[in-house]
Amino acid sequence: MDLRYFCIARGRIAIDSLKPMGGWSSQLLLLYLVVLCSANYVLCGSTSPYVRSEYPSTDIPLDNEAFVIPEGFNSPQQVHITQGDYDGKAVIVSWVTTSEPGSSEVWYGTEENKYELKAEGETTNYTFYDYISGFIHHCLIDELKHNTKYYYKIGAGSSAREFWFQTPPEIQPDAAYTFGIIGDLGQTYNSLSTLDHYMKSGGQTLLFVGDLSYADNYKHNDGVRWDSWGCLVEKSAAYQPWIWTTGNHEIEYRPDLGETTMFKAFLHRFLTPYKASQSSSPLWYAIRRASAHIIVLSSYSPFVKYTPQWHWLRAELKRVNREKTPWLIVLMHAPLYNSNTAHYMEGEAMRAVFEKWFVKYKVDMVFAGHVHAYERSYRISNINYNITTGNRYPVPDKSAPVYITVGDGGNQEGLAGRFFEVQPDYSAFREASYGHSTLELKNRTHALYHWNRNDDGKHVPTDHLVFHNQYWASNTRRRRLKKHKFPSHAALFAKYGKILDSLP
Ligand SMILES: *[C@@H]1O[C@H](CO)[C@@H](O)[C@H](O)[C@H]1NC(C)=O
Ligand SMILES: *[C@@H]1O[C@H](CO)[C@@H](O)[C@H](O)[C@H]1NC(C)=O
Ligand SMILES: *[C@@H]1O[C@H](CO)[C@@H](O)[C@H](O)[C@H]1NC(C)=O
Ligand SMILES: [Fe+2]
Repeated sequence: MDLRYFCIARGRIAIDSLKPMGGWSSQLLLLYLVVLCSANYVLCGSTSPYVRSEYPSTDIPLDNEAFVIPEGFNSPQQVHITQGDYDGKAVIVSWVTTSEPGSSEVWYGTEENKYELKAEGETTNYTFYDYISGFIHHCLIDELKHNTKYYYKIGAGSSAREFWFQTPPEIQPDAAYTFGIIGDLGQTYNSLSTLDHYMKSGGQTLLFVGDLSYADNYKHNDGVRWDSWGCLVEKSAAYQPWIWTTGNHEIEYRPDLGETTMFKAFLHRFLTPYKASQSSSPLWYAIRRASAHIIVLSSYSPFVKYTPQWHWLRAELKRVNREKTPWLIVLMHAPLYNSNTAHYMEGEAMRAVFEKWFVKYKVDMVFAGHVHAYERSYRISNINYNITTGNRYPVPDKSAPVYITVGDGGNQEGLAGRFFEVQPDYSAFREASYGHSTLELKNRTHALYHWNRNDDGKHVPTDHLVFHNQYWASNTRRRRLKKHKFPSHAALFAKYGKILDSLP
């Protein structure tokens, strides 16, 4: 327990017991407590004073060039790729054609304009109320070589389009690799700004933490806004894998429209390699890439004890081999720790079920979205929470992950600007503005992390951190830091308890 909890808890007790004595002394005590708490600034996280002047939070009009559809009859559009296997030697290429199904084949090879290999894909389509989708193609290309640039071509004749991607290095503990993290992107000018900044960041694969198009905010969940979103992200997603996590805006449960298949548009448009990690659902799965083992969870699928997701996660965590993939990263949509008033405690149910595993398996970091602001926690856990008795509060825990919320992609719902005051001591940094994060895995022990605020077109690295791997890094330095940041309850009591006790 750290000082602020300590202050508040003791403050309340003291003030209650002082009531008969009248107002002035309790005010004095409060003032004293405030001074005591704020003087010890190292304990307190910071809430950024930055106030952003926003672009309006409205979607870019459909006729804008951001959504431009390539010329040519039945030309492939909305091209995006994702990892197609467990270890990064396969890619799933997806795209949409609108005039006729056309071919689902992908021509590819390691030399530009020379496509020696061919893979055959599949076509699907769906309707959502009065919306009729185009022909959605998915093609797996596998047995790729690691660390190799591949060129690929889709579509026929003069409408064919060409792209490329780089496969990751072999799974190896010191494989350096840079991930980007974006959440709740949507399709406003803020979204475009986030995407443009991300594309300049050097990110090699994007971890997308849910809430993609916000098409469900339109009348009848207008599927046209799924298509425009596909066009918007193509300039990045056709060239590097986007790792998909589902959010609440993907659920699209509309019984009033006769639409009761959850995640319908998402599941038709975005594939995930879930079978490769022995999952039974595309909504939760894992991949390994370079030196990272990435676990994707679904906040909106059953996860309590005995459900398929719970069984799968239990088994997957046992499959993690930190000797090969030192970096253990978890993605989900609803954050487990969030001190913003928006979506407050919506991650609590999942926290109650999975947090103890995150601590047991020393997860390095948990990325979430959902809350349209940025927040980063210290390493804390609340696994001893007991509804009957005992501990109530999150405590510093060196085995716990750092929780990072990046729901600040820039969608039409705008920013979640109200944080709870006082900032809880588990919260290290928080700011309500738009941006994206990058995570540069350097080797088995070190990673550099940045959160980059868009700042109306300028790229501003705002929050940054050196991560020491939870499995490989020597614990000594971290422990020393921890002591500095989080004095134990006993230590605090020894230092301040006496003074507090001696107050009138
Ligand atoms: C998919 O496309 C085919 C060919 O145009 C059409 O016959 C079928 O009805 C479509 N399916 C759905 C679910 O829209
Ligand atoms: C919670 O507290 C009760 C009552 O003290 C105790 O019997 C129980 O073992 C505790 N449960 C856990 C999981 O710690
Ligand atoms: C790992 O990377 C960090 C940061 O770049 C560097 O300081 C450290 O020496 C590296 N360690 C090894 C074993 O290469
Ligand atoms: Fe959300």
